[in-house]
Amino acid sequence: MTVAATRFVRVLPADELRDGELLPVEIDGTPVVLVRHRGEFFATANNCTHRDFPLSEAGFDQRDGVLICAWHEACFDVRTGAAVVPPATEPVETFPVRVTDGFVEIGLTGSLLRS
Ligand code: FES
Repeated sequence: MTVAATRFVRVLPADELRDGELLPVEIDGTPVVLVRHRGEFFATANNCTHRDFPLSEAGFDQRDGVLICAWHEACFDVRTGAAVVPPATEPVETFPVRVTDGFVEIGLTGSLLRS
């Protein structure tokens, strides 16, 4: 059995997103939110697991490293996707991110996988 290597898609030059900023992006029609936090990049699905509201609408709390849902204020740890403040209880999906040749690239895993 062979295990396919993760494919990555290039999103933007790394220096175009400042620390503490987030950026909503679409990858093959799937909404994703990209965050730069303390020099590292993270990507999650852009859908709150409570009622499916876009997580990019409110903002990113740099102090705690959480995405805050604008609707009912659930919070998700951007590093792990864990729901850390209710009413959401289910984690948000996370995707691998790397920087190659100065560009941020998001890995096509989970719901970003297309056969
Ligand atoms: S939809 Fe996000 S907290 Fe309710």
